[in-house]
Amino acid sequence: MAKRTAKIYRPTSRNLARLAHALREGELVAVPTETVYGLAADALNAAACRKIFRAKRRPTSDPLIVHLAKASDLTRVAEASEAVWKLAKHFWPGPLTLVLPRKPIVPELVTAGLPSVAVRVPRHAAFRRLIALAGTPLAAPSANPFGYVSPTNADHVLAGLGSRISHILDGGASRIGLESTIVDLRDPTQPKILRPGAIGADEISAVLGVPVAARKPARAKKMSAQIAPGLLTRHYSPRTPVSLHSSLTLRDVARSTGGKREAWVFLAKPAGKLPPNVFWLDRRGSLAGVARRLFGVLRELDGAGYQHLHVERASGDGLAIAINDRLERAAAKA
Ligand code: TXA
Ligand code: MG
Repeated sequence: MAKRTAKIYRPTSRNLARLAHALREGELVAVPTETVYGLAADALNAAACRKIFRAKRRPTSDPLIVHLAKASDLTRVAEASEAVWKLAKHFWPGPLTLVLPRKPIVPELVTAGLPSVAVRVPRHAAFRRLIALAGTPLAAPSANPFGYVSPTNADHVLAGLGSRISHILDGGASRIGLESTIVDLRDPTQPKILRPGAIGADEISAVLGVPVAARKPARAKKMSAQIAPGLLTRHYSPRTPVSLHSSLTLRDVARSTGGKREAWVFLAKPAGKLPPNVFWLDRRGSLAGVARRLFGVLRELDGAGYQHLHVERASGDGLAIAINDRLERAAAKA
């Protein structure tokens, strides 16, 4: 494994001031958010943003999300309609990203040359303070090498990018654990979900008073289809092959011929005596708990030497749609 050189900072006032200074100087800082950890740079500084793509080995055809300290900063980078302010008032700060017509101040690199820009106001208090102290919007994709599972704590960032970056702000484990819901609001009369997240299409529709088109389940998205973000099918993927099951029982585990080489991941803790290769995401199977632990468990099992991971799908609307979207991507073959 490559040498880890990144330093981890607690969110003290002094450290936040130092990191804000580093950002203003064009350096990268990995940051905590309520969804997943991000890798941030000054969004208005193209040279700084180029470092993000380099550190992640991310193709420049994949645009970045711009993070703001408060909703009223939006007009610096994007054109806002009445619908935007409705959603902002209701869901910001929070796990909702809006794709809007961009303003020229945003470097082309950030938007991958698109006429739109993705923006959100995160809820995580330390990150929001850092944006305010930096005094500039911060571009930040998830802080993982391109294509791998998103990080939900500072150690995940260290493991993936520790040899390629210098600063990691540790704000604890991400409370939600899945990336933000992305809504295409370029046309406010026809909002579309580009990536499902903790905020569901029905909640957005209720606030806007118009139907919101849900995205089709993840399948065969090509790099060229830039407007459907995230969005190579194989994304968020562990290296170990993953199979999904609509439900799992201990009998499935007992019947399998894979033995100890395969791990089984249940949503809830199964009742009975558990073999050592059985895991669960939330003791009671609460979807919030499942979402929070999903990426961490996938990472842990990916490093544990199993040849195959079997994972139980979530059922229902809302968070279940987002959880299953990430599971499908994790299970997708190249
Ligand atoms: O929760 C999150 O959204 C996290 C935290 C760090 O805020 N960020 C995150 O960023 O998940 P990233 O880069 O891993 O995923 C953002 C997706 C990208 O796949 C990109 O394609 C899409 O947002 N995106 C960015 N700008 C876009 C645009 N103008 N139009 C369509 N999609 C866009
Ligand atoms: Mg990502």
